[in-house]
Amino acid sequence: MAQLWGGRFTKETDQLVYNFNASISFDKKFYRQDMEGSIAHVKMLGKQGILTEQESEELVAAVKEILKEVETGTLEISHEYEDIHSFVEAMLIERLGDIGKKLHTGRSRNDQVALDMRLYIRQELMEVDRLLNELLNVILRIMENNINTFMPGFTHLQKAQPVTLAHHMGAYFEMFKRDRLRMQDIYHRMNYCPLGSGALAGTTYHLDRYYTAELLGFDGPTLNSMDGVSDRDYLIEYLSALSTVMMHLSRFSEEIIIWNSNEYQFVEIDDAYSTGSSIMPQKKNPDIAELVRGKTGRVYGALISLLTTMKGIPLAYNKDMQEDKELAFDAIDTVKGCLALFSGMLSTMKFNRDKMEASAQNGFTNATDAADYLVNRGVPFRDAHGIVGQIVLYCIDKKIAIDDMSLEELKKISPVFEEDIFDAVSMKTCVEKRLTIGAPGQEAMKKVIAQEQEYLSQDWKKQLPDWEKELLK
Ligand code: ARG
Repeated sequence: MAQLWGGRFTKETDQLVYNFNASISFDKKFYRQDMEGSIAHVKMLGKQGILTEQESEELVAAVKEILKEVETGTLEISHEYEDIHSFVEAMLIERLGDIGKKLHTGRSRNDQVALDMRLYIRQELMEVDRLLNELLNVILRIMENNINTFMPGFTHLQKAQPVTLAHHMGAYFEMFKRDRLRMQDIYHRMNYCPLGSGALAGTTYHLDRYYTAELLGFDGPTLNSMDGVSDRDYLIEYLSALSTVMMHLSRFSEEIIIWNSNEYQFVEIDDAYSTGSSIMPQKKNPDIAELVRGKTGRVYGALISLLTTMKGIPLAYNKDMQEDKELAFDAIDTVKGCLALFSGMLSTMKFNRDKMEASAQNGFTNATDAADYLVNRGVPFRDAHGIVGQIVLYCIDKKIAIDDMSLEELKKISPVFEEDIFDAVSMKTCVEKRLTIGAPGQEAMKKVIAQEQEYLSQDWKKQLPDWEKELLK
């Protein structure tokens, strides 16, 4: 048991209590952020004359050394310490003696952990953004190649109107684009540095909080020290955004599972992304899509769990907040894994264009267009709807499509039909006529694709400062 705060205690901590309280087993995950925070803090203490220049430089050098050793595996983060903060401080004292003991001047673990978590989440937010971007690129490629791949569009999982694969994929493009925008949004709202908030009421040292904020790539310091140590809104927002990502991935997975079924056969998932059955030799299961769908619950769970943890906590820091970590780490790793696998599965998936087109052909997806044809020739829409309903009934009985009927058969139901009905209800026309922006018509689709290409060519992260390189150089 190695802890920082034995001074006022007369008894050893009970071992069970110690284990219950300790967080090193999971907060070691942000060892890097913890040490970066310490480097910035110590640099600032030196600049302000709170530590001598030499003390500050020695501390910075030693933290960098410890960081390097941890990253190369020569120094193991030992679980005998209570948390990652205690571990780093103990290593410094071991190496620098009294100078090491000065690290924590003007700082509390409350603002320290608030900073570490924020730095970690900020980095993971950008990683999720990168993975979303990768997925968007895969989706856009499918869109570009399938402007003319006809398929049924569904409502209620019933064939509704013909669309194209590009159009269907475009819906997911919009969803994941919004997910990226959410990342960007959260980044700008969370990018303020809590370091210097102290335990809750700031400190009596003349810290330069603007300087540490700048060293760590923040837009500035947080403006209330009580809020600074106890705000986890950014994490709730992030988990909410991650839940939405999972909801989108789960819907997409559900479609892929349906499309991959023996009945649909719209797609074939690559062997590398499918699994077999231990008993049924013929099976090739869409396990990845099913797992992504399944793991969604786990990410929602993290969001609800943190919301619940936070709801009764008075200001300022309370130990309950330590519970933000394991669930967040699990949710983040889950989402990252799902995104990476999903992009791989999607980019290797084969689309059976013929099956898709045949399915659109024989599901009366052109019934609305047949009604529109009549409307354009003066038939009131409600009557047109009824006439085409009769046609559909006739076709179901004869087991044919509207396109298969002869003009005579059509005329028997309504004399308004002429030879040009066949062109009007052909799949190509049905899709092509949908030419307002956002619709599947070729011209509209091309405009949208150009806009999405333009969107993907810019990356908001490129404008961010390269603070980490600067800090660690
Ligand atoms: N492990 C703690 C957490 O994750 C660090 C802060 C500890 N502060 C304290 N006053 N005990 O929240």
